Amino acid sequence: MNLIDRDRATLWHPYTQMQTAPAPLPIARGQGVYLYTEDGRKILDGISSWWVNIHGHSHPKLNEALARQARELEHVVFAGCTHRPAVELAERLLEVLPRGIARVFYSDNGSTAVEVALKMACQYWRNLGQDRRTFITLHHAYHGDTVGAMSASEDSFFTKPFNPMLFSVVRVGSPYCYRCPVGLQRSTCHVDCLGDLEHRLAKLNGQAAAVLVEPMLQAAGGMIIWPAEFLAGVRRLCDRYGTLMIADEVLTGFGRTGKMFACEHAGVSPDIICLSKALTGGYMPLAATGATAKIYDAFLSEDRAKTFFHGHSYTANPLACAVGIASLELFREESTLDRVASLERTLRCGLEPLRSLDGVGDVRVIGGVGVVEMRADDPGYLNEFGPRLSRALLDRGLLLRPLGDVLYFMPPYAITQAETEWAISQIGEVLQAGVV
Ligand SMILES: Cc1ncc(COP(=O)(O)O)c(C=O)c1O
Repeated sequence: MNLIDRDRATLWHPYTQMQTAPAPLPIARGQGVYLYTEDGRKILDGISSWWVNIHGHSHPKLNEALARQARELEHVVFAGCTHRPAVELAERLLEVLPRGIARVFYSDNGSTAVEVALKMACQYWRNLGQDRRTFITLHHAYHGDTVGAMSASEDSFFTKPFNPMLFSVVRVGSPYCYRCPVGLQRSTCHVDCLGDLEHRLAKLNGQAAAVLVEPMLQAAGGMIIWPAEFLAGVRRLCDRYGTLMIADEVLTGFGRTGKMFACEHAGVSPDIICLSKALTGGYMPLAATGATAKIYDAFLSEDRAKTFFHGHSYTANPLACAVGIASLELFREESTLDRVASLERTLRCGLEPLRSLDGVGDVRVIGGVGVVEMRADDPGYLNEFGPRLSRALLDRGLLLRPLGDVLYFMPPYAITQAETEWAISQIGEVLQAGVV
């Protein structure tokens, strides 16, 4: 049996309708921005392997960091023990994280980083003797697939089957300028969509546990890019109404929006920040939830009931932490943020002309993410445009996974200008030929 047959006989893939999905791509190896299939095809990884890979596949420095750490300590329980990679990564993160973040709590995937943040916020208030359990989240949000993260995400096709399991949250409008929730134009509006958040905070009258946002870029909900003023407004309103701000930077962290962290676009600091994906450069499952001293201190007590009761078998895995340290070093050694800046320029130049193509509704770019939203009557994840476009581009050697009618290109930052231009030309040709 070949690999695909063996896969089909044994496996169940994520976000995949196993009855109708095309055969999975058998990937043998990765190098730089390319993936190579078992049968020798070379494919450009236009989605950074689900948004995690930033320095390119099989980077010599990251390979070496992983191998070196494996020779020393592969794993140890993190309750009651500590180790150099965990401490050193935390120290380095605290140097670059938004000011005020003072503690790092490790876990191992983005959904859990959010889950941890929600639990931290909930228990923070409880430890202070306040019963605040209402979370405010945004329309079009996606925070992951665990129960808390799903509850906080948009009530959507993704979460529908699990509705009976979810807790209720208050959802407010997000600044989706292409489909403005208050019917205005960005060029003349005053981020009036913030009014919804203010109204809800006022109505909750001190009962909100936290406002949870994906700063600057709501990703899986449609690659919605925000005006920085909205983000600044969220912080201002959290302060005004005395609640916590949680920034889910699982995707946006580590340069994806052009800044190390998206919160920097508005010069704001959250009370809690969620990180994962590019934390290890795309090598190992690791996540971190950062908190301010104010949050951390509320858990310090002689009373053991105030302990933060959360942890996982693989918390602070040393292999993952060692690669995380090496990934942060690469930011300095390879001027990674400069690379993102030049990728952003190439994306802007290349994608803007696609705006005039038939069927294209909007083109938007932030950092290392370029987005083309189609003019669809039935917008959303199930729009057939996505799979059709995906197949057409894969035939040309470009791996993309559009979100329904929203096509995005999010390559590793290691991509060259010529490779970016090539990818954009493939997208342009496929759209122009009406292949989809
Ligand atoms: C903003 C955001 N938060 C959380 C998650 C969940 O991360 P994971 O898939 O690692 O659980 C994602 C995943 O796409 C995300 O984009």
